[in-house]
Amino acid sequence: MHTQSIVFITGGTSGIGKETVRALATTGATVVFTARDAKKGEAVQEEITRETGNSTVTFLIGDLSSFASIRAVAEEFKKRYSRLDVLINNAGVLPQERQESKDGIELNLAVNYLAPFLLTNLLLPVLKQSAPSRIINVSSSMYTEGEIRFDDLESKKSFTKYSAYAQSKLALLLFTKKLARDLKGSGVTVNALHPGVIGTEITMQNVRTMNPLVAFIFKRTFISPAQGAETSVYLATSPDVANISGEYFEKKKSVSSAPQANDMDVAEKLETIAKTKVLL
Ligand SMILES: NC(=O)c1ccc[n+]([C@@H]2O[C@H](COP(=O)([O-])OP(=O)(O)OC[C@H]3O[C@@H](n4cnc5c(N)ncnc54)[C@H](OP(=O)(O)O)[C@@H]3O)[C@@H](O)[C@H]2O)c1
Repeated sequence: MHTQSIVFITGGTSGIGKETVRALATTGATVVFTARDAKKGEAVQEEITRETGNSTVTFLIGDLSSFASIRAVAEEFKKRYSRLDVLINNAGVLPQERQESKDGIELNLAVNYLAPFLLTNLLLPVLKQSAPSRIINVSSSMYTEGEIRFDDLESKKSFTKYSAYAQSKLALLLFTKKLARDLKGSGVTVNALHPGVIGTEITMQNVRTMNPLVAFIFKRTFISPAQGAETSVYLATSPDVANISGEYFEKKKSVSSAPQANDMDVAEKLETIAKTKVLL
């Protein structure tokens, strides 16, 4: 990554996203992140600018549970910046109950899959113009527990929090693999990753519902948010992965993914549905 590089990351206000912003800011790149709340965005911008001396760190207000907001954020980004070297789809949710987005879509599907799907597609022209460029999708190893339930994609018939989350992270991985195929020869790469298990809000809300002994043991497996950011930072910056695309990474290593993440018929069917939902 060179100092003129521009990185755009969703969900830079806490956890892994915030640590990814911090690490990338130290490279001297221009780092733009999304925040839902201006106060939270300002606090992160101020803290990281002060710490790294990188005055380009900035944020755009955006709610990934709204297609209109995603479109507005992509427009604003394109208005302000003429290139995009790295897009990191990091923001994610794991709601405890079934919830719907502003567009009336089950929240895991909306924020963890349809939001990165729409944002990436809207920014693809600028990523192509800026090639070589990279797209990084923060998935989760929980995708292995997932299946794409075409008969109940939005968990209307039955909802369990982990299966809705796992399905959305599998959908993101299928999107990654299909997009890598479509982008062959374009100079734009796209990879996905599992960050590790980190005691951020997304995890802690589940820990609070666990039996105390199970919670105690589970918490001992946590790595820090900064460690959780390492694979995203590696994929964003390392020359070793400049020509790698369509792969799934854990601990900065490409690892083989489960059969359900390689089913391109499912990926294509899902993409057709996603396009209809986000009106692409
Ligand atoms: N922590 C883990 O153990 C773990 C494991 C596997 C995968 N992951 C994945 O890692 C990614 C980052 O999670 P984290 O652990 O850093 O969790 P986190 O601390 O809860 O951070 C989630 C981020 O996503 C943002 N976000 C949530 N809903 C949003 C929405 N509707 N619009 C815009 N932004 C939204 C949050 O913004 P606000 O500050 O406004 O809430 C926050 O910046 C997620 O994709 C998650 O699925 C995490």
